[in-house]
Amino acid sequence: MSGPLLKVENLTKYYPLGAGILKKRIPVVRAVEDVSFYVEAAETLCIVGESGCGKSTVARLLMRLIEPTSGRVLIDGTDIAGLKKHELRAWRRRMQMVFQDPYSSLNPRLTAGQIITEPVENFERLSRKQRHALAADLLQKVGLAPEIMQRLPTELSGGQRQRLSIARALSLNPSLIILDEAVSALDVSVQAQILNLLMDLQQQMGIAFIFISHDLGVVEHIGRRVAVMYLGRIVELAPCEALFAKPVHPYTEALIAAAPVPDPTRARLDVPVEGEVPSPINPPSGCAFHPRCPLAVERCRMEMPPLVLMADGRVVACHVRAPATYISGQPVEAGDQSLGPMTLS
Ligand SMILES: Nc1ncnc2c1ncn2[C@@H]1O[C@H](COP(=O)(O)OP(=O)(O)O)[C@@H](O)[C@H]1O
Ligand code: SF4
Ligand SMILES: [Mg+2]
Repeated sequence: MSGPLLKVENLTKYYPLGAGILKKRIPVVRAVEDVSFYVEAAETLCIVGESGCGKSTVARLLMRLIEPTSGRVLIDGTDIAGLKKHELRAWRRRMQMVFQDPYSSLNPRLTAGQIITEPVENFERLSRKQRHALAADLLQKVGLAPEIMQRLPTELSGGQRQRLSIARALSLNPSLIILDEAVSALDVSVQAQILNLLMDLQQQMGIAFIFISHDLGVVEHIGRRVAVMYLGRIVELAPCEALFAKPVHPYTEALIAAAPVPDPTRARLDVPVEGEVPSPINPPSGCAFHPRCPLAVERCRMEMPPLVLMADGRVVACHVRAPATYISGQPVEAGDQSLGPMTLS
């Protein structure tokens, strides 16, 4: 297969708020703006940022649970917006999602066995024996004992329920699983177990993950690349190691400073993220981070910084830390063909 598994181009989602009064412009929530990235087969791309920065909206757009205002989502080079009903159904088999709260995503009246075989039974009829064998196999894959099969979600611990959600997502043998805050509600030790499980599953089954979290600390060990979002936009996208060793965007730097450091010998950066996240209904002019940025200069209030491809392969949107190169008055942006393909490994 050539090209990435998933490619997202200039994805934008505005939510209109109300009907507007007479001819006045309808206010919109700018949930996601001009987001582009790709995911290779069997890799993990993490998306991080504070609550409300648009992470779940990106996930819902990728799953086509909502329609974009503009931009495209391509899977194996095919734009999902143009898929016919049966093609969409086939494509849905390949992309699955795991949510933060298994209580709301798992049917409380079904047993664990029924929950994990249900997606397959939406596509094909299974005999009792086949259903049992499939459930046993999936439970084993996610490290749950076979006795769990007869239990209801309420009879399981938080970690067990999240394993069950992962088993359900695995049942259709997907190429990509989107995990939206999938470990955020769990204790640190259970989080670590689930992260290890995901990494094992990726190695064994070659699944790609989009791992979404508001907690940068959680993504350090699971991601190959990390996209940092702020107020609907990607502000830095870098290989994981490079991002943690040397964050370039001041917001990334501040997030790393705020994240708990598991290794006490590692230096902490002293840049707190001060102030509230501004409203996505009326975002600040220029760089949306400028009211909170310790490095802000006059230009930051006036002009939106473009995403610039740095020498080490990361992309960063910051006038001070990643000044753009201008050709014929236009900034040379990340992914510009004149710079060749982005290599971020
Ligand atoms: N259906 C909706 N209608 C209006 N605004 C929404 C809707 N869904 C999300 N939003 C807003 O879009 C922004 C991004 O939300 P979301 O994608 O859930 O962020 P995150 O997952 O990063 O916390 C937030 O300001 C949120 O309030
Ligand atoms: S563009 Fe300016 S305000 Fe934005 S992150 Fe860079 S220095 Fe800070
Ligand atoms: Mg969310």
